[in-house]
Amino acid sequence: MILKKMKMEDWFIKTASCQYNFSESGVPDFTLNEFFKKIKTNKSILNNIFLGNNDTYGSLDLRKEISRLYSTVRPENLITTNGTSEALYIFFNLFLNKKSKILLLYPAFPLLYLIPQALGAKVHFLDVLQFQDKKELSKRLILEIKGIRPDLLIINIPHNPAGFTFNKKEIAEIGQVSKKYKVNILFDEHYRFLPINFSEKILPSGYDIVSKFYKNVFAVGSVIKCVGIVGIRVGWLIANKITLNKIRDYKDYTTHCVPLINETITGLAIRNIAKITPEFIARIKNNWLLLKNSQLVKQNKIILNYQLEGGCVCFPKINSFNSLKLAKILATKYNTSIMPGEVFGQKGYIRINLAQATKDFQNLLKNINSIIKNEKNKSIFN
Ligand SMILES: Cc1ncc(COP(=O)(O)O)c(C=O)c1O
Repeated sequence: MILKKMKMEDWFIKTASCQYNFSESGVPDFTLNEFFKKIKTNKSILNNIFLGNNDTYGSLDLRKEISRLYSTVRPENLITTNGTSEALYIFFNLFLNKKSKILLLYPAFPLLYLIPQALGAKVHFLDVLQFQDKKELSKRLILEIKGIRPDLLIINIPHNPAGFTFNKKEIAEIGQVSKKYKVNILFDEHYRFLPINFSEKILPSGYDIVSKFYKNVFAVGSVIKCVGIVGIRVGWLIANKITLNKIRDYKDYTTHCVPLINETITGLAIRNIAKITPEFIARIKNNWLLLKNSQLVKQNKIILNYQLEGGCVCFPKINSFNSLKLAKILATKYNTSIMPGEVFGQKGYIRINLAQATKDFQNLLKNINSIIKNEKNKSIFN
């Protein structure tokens, strides 16, 4: 298997020294001290953690904690992995081959198509940016499932980078059609713990909804990006017992286990999630409103597409300005990193993180405005 280079990681490396980081897709990360202060817990809890090998399925304590995030999942229905990246890598390697057909909402987190493509699978992309609203998107998605009849449908909700999610009814409909056409579904629910403008504290899980009536459904999940512990690298995969056993055996060839120290911190984050996420959610909402009401949007310099419903990124279009040039000027002149759409294969768009300090976010908007204005003036006088 020959894997293409991940342009996204290249961009992260290039702009790593920027003081203001709006490129990442997670909330700002804590130090260990800050994290324990936030969850009001004494750090001494870490003193007796066993530093030997951990259970390859994941410690029972963490699997219990994770299963409480779902209504249909028990600890024996999941395996923990080093990031959802490991879960996805193993899952794709086990189940995809040259004959496989995938259907994926696009743009997407690159690993979701680069690994299937490297394995020779045919990936059908449904471009979410061509629709005016989500109703149209979900209608079209149903048609695509019926028409393509993929072996695997990958649904990432809340969506990175577009920020929308599907509601329970839409998810159930996707599940019913997939069942009818014998399409396996993989939900990637990485950003479920950052609901924006929902009454629920955690967004409903596609796995919970669909697994009630269809057995060929899988899910990956994680809290690390929603609670500011991304370096802890814990994710999980939910599947039937046969699949989990295969994944367990494959994991002997990758990382063998997730370190117990990382699993313990993840367990603490899940147990204390109500102490962590509300502040981030409030900030994301506020920054999203600032963007929506900004001169950039009012003057059509930036065009928003979907309403932000979950996660902490959005993917607006930059009107009449080169997105890569904008990102480069921000990085070199303003010490600020945003993600150019080119990284996702979408020239003319930018991904912006909405979970950063509001003052910095206001500055970002101001700086984008002046870059677009100055560059336009330059071209008039040149
Ligand atoms: C949709 C989605 N899935 C999976 C991943 C992989 O995340 P990790 O391996 O850090 O858990 C990411 C990371 O940004 C993502 O956005």
